[in-house]
Amino acid sequence: MKKTASGAVILLFLFFTGIILFTLTKCKSPSGTTVNDLRVEYMKNPVGIDAIQPRFSWKMESNERGVSQTAYTIVVSTDKNFKKTVWNFGEVFSGQSVAIAYGGAALLPATRYFWKVEVKDQALNKIISKEKAFFETGLMNSGWSNAQWIKPLQRDSILTVPMFRTTCKLDKKIRSARIYTSGLGIYEVFINGKRIGASVENGEMRYDEFKPGWTDYTRTVSYSTCDVKDWLKTGDNVIGAYVAPGWWGGGIAHDKYGSPDLGFIAKLVVNYTDGTSEVIVTDPKTWKYSVDGAIRQGDIYNGEVYDARKESAWTSSGYDDSAWQTCSVNTDFKGEIKAFVGPTVQVRKQLERTPVKITRYDGITNDGSDFGKINVKETYNKPPVTISLPKGQTLVYDMGQNMTGWVKLKVKGNAGTQVTIRFAEMLNDEGQKSRGDDGPGGSLYRINLRSAKAMLEYTLKGDKKGEEYQPSTTFFGFRYCDLTATDSIEIESLTGEVVGTASEEVGTFSTGNSSVNQLFSNIIWGQRSNFLSIPTDCPQRDERLGWTGDIEIFGRTASYNADLAAFFQKWMGDMRDSQRDDGAFPSVAPHCWVGWGQAAWAEAGIIIPWTTYLMYDDKGILEENYPAMEKYMTFLANQSDEKYKYNGAGTDYGDWVSYVHTDSRYISVCYYAYATLLMEKISLALSAGKDDEYAQKAVSYRNLYNQIKQEFLSRYTNKDGMLTQDTQTAYLLAIKLDLFTTEAVRQQATDHLQKLITDNGNKLNTGFVGTGIMMPTLSDAGLIDIAYNLLLQRENPSWLYSVDQGATTIWERWNSYTKETGFNREIGMNSFNHYAYGAVAEWLYRYVAGINPDENRPGFKHILLNPTPDFRTTFPDGQKQIKQAEATYNSYYGVIRSAWQIEDAGNVKYDITIPANTTATLRLLLPNEQSEAFESGMPAKDAKGVVSVSKENGKLIIELASGNYSFEVR
Ligand code: BGC
Repeated sequence: MKKTASGAVILLFLFFTGIILFTLTKCKSPSGTTVNDLRVEYMKNPVGIDAIQPRFSWKMESNERGVSQTAYTIVVSTDKNFKKTVWNFGEVFSGQSVAIAYGGAALLPATRYFWKVEVKDQALNKIISKEKAFFETGLMNSGWSNAQWIKPLQRDSILTVPMFRTTCKLDKKIRSARIYTSGLGIYEVFINGKRIGASVENGEMRYDEFKPGWTDYTRTVSYSTCDVKDWLKTGDNVIGAYVAPGWWGGGIAHDKYGSPDLGFIAKLVVNYTDGTSEVIVTDPKTWKYSVDGAIRQGDIYNGEVYDARKESAWTSSGYDDSAWQTCSVNTDFKGEIKAFVGPTVQVRKQLERTPVKITRYDGITNDGSDFGKINVKETYNKPPVTISLPKGQTLVYDMGQNMTGWVKLKVKGNAGTQVTIRFAEMLNDEGQKSRGDDGPGGSLYRINLRSAKAMLEYTLKGDKKGEEYQPSTTFFGFRYCDLTATDSIEIESLTGEVVGTASEEVGTFSTGNSSVNQLFSNIIWGQRSNFLSIPTDCPQRDERLGWTGDIEIFGRTASYNADLAAFFQKWMGDMRDSQRDDGAFPSVAPHCWVGWGQAAWAEAGIIIPWTTYLMYDDKGILEENYPAMEKYMTFLANQSDEKYKYNGAGTDYGDWVSYVHTDSRYISVCYYAYATLLMEKISLALSAGKDDEYAQKAVSYRNLYNQIKQEFLSRYTNKDGMLTQDTQTAYLLAIKLDLFTTEAVRQQATDHLQKLITDNGNKLNTGFVGTGIMMPTLSDAGLIDIAYNLLLQRENPSWLYSVDQGATTIWERWNSYTKETGFNREIGMNSFNHYAYGAVAEWLYRYVAGINPDENRPGFKHILLNPTPDFRTTFPDGQKQIKQAEATYNSYYGVIRSAWQIEDAGNVKYDITIPANTTATLRLLLPNEQSEAFESGMPAKDAKGVVSVSKENGKLIIELASGNYSFEVR
């Protein structure tokens, strides 16, 4: 943002608009407005960022109506008291408070910068941020001071977990210290006997799991920065680290990253109070390794083997490491080491689960079924403090919730006793092969894990006071686990720890219908379970990959559920790294398996940046990825053959796991049109003026879309204009992408789509592609009632069907399990935790509650609020009207709330919150032409904050300034 000569004109303009708005909204000077939630690069007080021009954001908060920002002043300094200012550009007359790029002196590496912002509201009151806000730069290409990737000379197995250690003497008083680390494999670092972590606001420690996270290791690995001053001392110090295969080695890597050797790199910078400093780095001469630690093996798919008898004080000084060996150098990694971006993977303490039921059984009883059933000895519904488990018996734990993570065990027993814990999402029900069971009734159903062993083996050290264990090198997708031991033991407790990317959850949704609320909860848990460093397909079987199609379908929903601004920025780096030379985006990112350039999967490379832009006003993600997107468009252009010019991408997946087949090539062509339409929008978003390069590109993408449409029409429509592909998915795509000749034909197609659904008993029959767009497309086409019918459908296939079968997460298939017939026989692909079908929550937020960003003023600076209550007058059998719904979304401008309630007299109440520094256009359906809107009892047009009220096509259109409102339409 530049201050120019036209600044004064802008000031005058803003001043007068302020006055007009001020008058229109009859707003008094707001008291109590605050400026909060200061962020840099979408994170609170990030440490170790390498962005050259980090972007700032903040929120204005106020209970008053009509509050907005007219100017801001950002000050950045290297000291807390703002004496050594590096950026103070003066006042900028703008309402923007998201993604404002730093424009001061070049940032120095490894430096903490403090910042504050002063805002002027619409009445020119000054509001100064009170938070202690800072960001700290990482290495910023200042180098690793000759640190080397160290590795063990030898390991017994590719799953062995080596430990590395070095000692160093720090002989002066320490002023500050940072350690920069990365791993080839996942790693953990300890200094002087203590695991390193970051202290967070409330004095608690934040520990990051599975560092360095998953990237395309052929090109990029992330490094972490940690303030370790409190870990070090003057005198002798020890740094220790262990590295497990993680995503770099083991089965999940699919042999992608070269030799199976693991690696660790570190640079410790210690600044003394006398102004001198010292640097300690990984180096094979000064670091030693051992493969004889307590973690005997660790692997994502298979689990962890841990022998507590091998625990030692290897990360403390005084430990005798004479049996340890000298390291060698790992040269496998040829890419770039980049600062980690975004939220880390953590144990999410607030989500910890205690078992809802524990069953102890002894062997199998023959009940005439194929496998028999477990012979239950005792059921503990309220888990007791301690359970005695005799040798030979088994405990089955039910966490009551399908989830991703691991268990924490507190156990007492003899040294050398081996405890085995196995994980599963479901229990076998009747022990019958005909129901798809893989074992006795009541035992774990594990056949859907395919080759993933998914288990823990823990050997007790025999501590009389009891011992505690949780793994760190693996994770499981599970609701249930069973536990056996080679000798009798006492279990003091076993709890479920949820592990995943700790992105802030920002969305809520509820209705008066408890099944819909359970569905929403299942969607949230699907996201918690599958956002683990990258967006994955599932957390349990031998897959857990960054399937691009799944996030392409679910991305919009996901970004309402959680703040994904930084997460998507990082993942798009994986997409670019994994893009093939011909421009094809991969089917899994980071790429490690299967192919590239498959329709509806590869287009995630365009859809995700667009979504991120809409939700967070992040133009940067569009700019950064534009060349890669264009390269993909070139790939698409090259898919022509003698007969057809516009074939689109590959046809491997089509409408994945649908009930009715839609031709895959048809889907590819539609997605080509889809990508082209988005490229037009993206180009326009980046264009600064009518004739610039982006504007011209937008025109050429529009032309391309028209040509694709022409070929589509001749290829896929009949004489009457209707589609040759007579499926729900085909019609949904063509309606969404405007692939009909005239409005009349489009209407005919919409009627036909409605018929396809009603003839199917008000049921969908779509897969990933059709389901992802089903509800918004129906609503946009005016078929809101049909959408409600589908939402509340309980028969297979439907969203509530799995809810009725007891689901606590979203399933891969509509009927992964049914009470009537048992498990789906497609055992190779029968995950109980696949988020794609959860895409229906996009419709709950955007249509039922109606919370939408405005493409022209994205990031919710202007909000399009289009709540669409359940106004059905006829209902399919067994369905009832939803009388009330509520959603909140904590945008980068603050919390937006939309709630409605249909009262018995038919009047509808709408409670609305528009955050400070935003405006909204509220569109309300009018029951009839005479209906009027009232706000807090008075005619809406007279209410404070209401800028205008008009009627258009059976809707009331109300322009709103910020604030809380209570409307009634009667
Ligand atoms: C994954 C899916 C994925 C699909 C594509 C499956 O194995 O679990 O979610 O999109 O493969 O073929």
